[in-house]
Amino acid sequence: MKAIVIDEYGSADRLHEAELEVPKIEADEVLVKIAATSINPIDWKARLGMLKPMFDWAFPIVLGWDLSGTITEVGKDVKSFRVGDEVFARPDIYKDGKRGTYAEFAAVKEDKLALKPENVSFEEAAAIPLAGLTAWQVIVDRLKVKKGEKVLIQAGAGGVGIFAIQIAKYLGAYVATTASPKNNELLKKLGADEVIDYHTLSVANVLKDYDAVFDTVDQIDEGLSTLKPAGRLVSIAGQPTEKQQSVTQSV
Ligand SMILES: NC(=O)c1ccc[n+]([C@@H]2O[C@H](COP(=O)([O-])OP(=O)(O)OC[C@H]3O[C@@H](n4cnc5c(N)ncnc54)[C@H](OP(=O)(O)O)[C@@H]3O)[C@@H](O)[C@H]2O)c1
Repeated sequence: MKAIVIDEYGSADRLHEAELEVPKIEADEVLVKIAATSINPIDWKARLGMLKPMFDWAFPIVLGWDLSGTITEVGKDVKSFRVGDEVFARPDIYKDGKRGTYAEFAAVKEDKLALKPENVSFEEAAAIPLAGLTAWQVIVDRLKVKKGEKVLIQAGAGGVGIFAIQIAKYLGAYVATTASPKNNELLKKLGADEVIDYHTLSVANVLKDYDAVFDTVDQIDEGLSTLKPAGRLVSIAGQPTEKQQSVTQSV
């Protein structure tokens, strides 16, 4: 199969086409012929070698963490999917580093798959899994946002932010977010109650007594300053300092 690989860490011009073996599926996996993938910040961070401390991949490496496509083969233990199903997924990250989604095929565990709704295109579906799951994990699992709470979601127009706003609104929260003015209308349409232009205003000066902050921009001090005493903050962009940890819990 054709895949886009890197043979060394570096800039985007390291990416090139290569011929690789089609992945062999395990009993609990399906083989998906990929129709679309998407690019998240983790792609360029991985390409630059920033994930080396976490993943000891051998070159050539296939990047890519999102896919949509059609199942062409199912493992013998797979129960809920069949050949021909249109699906989308965020596949597991494999140790060999060769099973990313910049490729014609990917092996995916059954428990990582969802059927693609008919009214969603392959391109739209491939934009959902990683960013959508990240938003869900933070808003629902970690921050445990509840009805009536005030939540700040930094970078509302980012891949994660647009999902986080919608999930928090669905849960009944009041949502403030930060964005450039060009994104104000879009974010209001998605449900944001307040959109702050981060180019001219600091959230620290305009928001008070918030219950929860989702930091996607590594501005933990600003986020902390908007919280009420028992408020919660989760960052997916930065590590809290010791001082920051003493007032919040790192997750
Ligand atoms: N994508 C994922 O699934 C995922 C998963 C885990 C961790 N992360 C991490 O989370 C962070 C955000 O990821 P993402 O995918 O949402 O990024 P993204 O889609 O690349 O976000 C880009 C947006 O961030 C906004 N932005 C930049 N600086 C800002 C600031 N100071 N204040 C407010 N908004 C700002 C810009 O909005 P405007 O256009 O409105 O200026 C821009 O459109 C990254 O550090 C990423 O590594 C992402």
